[in-house]
Amino acid sequence: MKWRNTTTSWGLLAVLMHWLVAASIVGLFGLGLWMTGLDYYDPWYKQGPDIHRSIGILLFLLILLRLAWRLNEIIPAPHPNHKPWEVQTAHTAHLLLYLLPLAIMVSGYLISTADGRAVSVFGWFEIPALFTGLDKQEELMGDIHELLAWGLIVTAAIHVAGALKHHLIDKDTTLIRMLGTTPNEEETE
Ligand code: HEM
Repeated sequence: MKWRNTTTSWGLLAVLMHWLVAASIVGLFGLGLWMTGLDYYDPWYKQGPDIHRSIGILLFLLILLRLAWRLNEIIPAPHPNHKPWEVQTAHTAHLLLYLLPLAIMVSGYLISTADGRAVSVFGWFEIPALFTGLDKQEELMGDIHELLAWGLIVTAAIHVAGALKHHLIDKDTTLIRMLGTTPNEEETE
């Protein structure tokens, strides 16, 4: 399999980044829901948010890298059997799936740094608190963070439904090619 995309297939780097981002988002969403329900005396009360913040910052960097790679790569064309409304819906969903995580991570950073403390990423490095002046910053950003996270999960659910529809009903290679396999030689170039 090639590292780079072609007009009909995703390259290894795009595929790896897609699934790493997808798994991290699902994991962060689950962790976020779980940790906000913990009580103060739970051993995970501090550790859960520490891990959530650290993965969030690393994911932010990964999505920037993914976007930079995407903007400099050929993008495989949609299958010719896809209807114009499907192509348009997929484009809108993809755009949101890039932008919503970034907005969620910025709001998360503004929650964590509202009190002027830096964010530590697994103790490896720190991101300093740069903006602390918003009125009720922690509460406001907390509400925005949660709302956008639900918006992302709904968008991802629509995206997954589309991928499964192409796989199970249209029986085309949309999903297969995002798994890194090239179903037949004709489609590789
Ligand atoms: C929250 C998790 C996910 C996110 C954030 C996400 C994001 C994205 C984005 C942004 C693209 C467009 C790639 C580009 O144009 O550069 C994409 C493509 C794709 N995703 Fe996901 N995805 C997620 C989960 C999934 C899952 C679970 C599936 C499978 C069931 C899936 C299947 C696909 C497929 C098949 C494509 C390629 C579509 C095409 O070739 O036009 N994604 N994804």
